[in-house]
Amino acid sequence: MSYQFLTFVVADRIATITVNRPDKLNALNDATIAELGVAIDEAIARDDVGGVVLTGAGRAFVAGADITELADQTPLDAVRRARAGQLIFRRYETSPKPTIAVINGFALGGGCELAMACHVRIASELAKLGQPEVKLGIVPGYGGTQRLPRLIGRGAALRLLLTGEIISASEAFRLGLVDQVVAADALVDTATGVMRAMLANAPLALAGCIEAVNRGASLDIEEGCRVESDQFGTLSSTADMREGMQAFLEKRTPSFVGH
Ligand code: COA
Repeated sequence: MSYQFLTFVVADRIATITVNRPDKLNALNDATIAELGVAIDEAIARDDVGGVVLTGAGRAFVAGADITELADQTPLDAVRRARAGQLIFRRYETSPKPTIAVINGFALGGGCELAMACHVRIASELAKLGQPEVKLGIVPGYGGTQRLPRLIGRGAALRLLLTGEIISASEAFRLGLVDQVVAADALVDTATGVMRAMLANAPLALAGCIEAVNRGASLDIEEGCRVESDQFGTLSSTADMREGMQAFLEKRTPSFVGH
């Protein structure tokens, strides 16, 4: 697959997707969003990919939706744009392979929303995050009003949404918006290490955790636990469960095959 606004590199079972419009701080025009959809589908489909690292080229992760495209949108354009982006971001959230947002710089508006759609967020200490849409007279359109309160709670989310304030990586960590903050020069190695730790585990178990967490998010505890026990049961039919337990009992490292 070839991309105009992204790079897609696979090494050691990790697909690194890099939004690559550094002169525009990786602002998401419609074409870049569409390519993000193709890229996650490619990563999910490829047997040589176990997980996805998503980052930005240059000094930004993603500085938001491309305001030059939003500036003259009609209401209908705006609804279609938001819906298309929401569905693509959701594919990062529901990917059966883990997705890590590696936040190297600005993650604003659609950039913060894209990071929130990933399973884990690791930020450089230089990163800045926020949902400044109200300053443009709009609300977030790519899931920000829904994911931010789920991630950091209603009060903190509304503070960020209503002020449009741009916060530091350390404040984002304090709020739970990012999971880890590291020195800029340690960012890639840290993210690679976290992904490698995930990929050492059974792929179907990773997918099962992601699915149970995602489905459980809209269920009550009773129904959510049923989803979990179903996953628990299904995984007990896999070769990887037998291998994982056998390896433990034999005091060796398991070798998982993905079925
Ligand atoms: N859409 C379109 N272009 C954007 C953009 C966006 N969201 N964010 C940055 N850019 C462009 C700038 O217009 C500029 O392009 P130019 O060189 O052709 O003029 C280039 O990226 C560099 O940005 P600049 O503003 O000069 O950098 P800065 O360091 O002074 O400021 C930000 C950085 C992130 C604070 C500032 O770019 C900004 O506020 N961006 C918009 C953030 C936002 O509101 N996002 C939500 C959108 S819904």
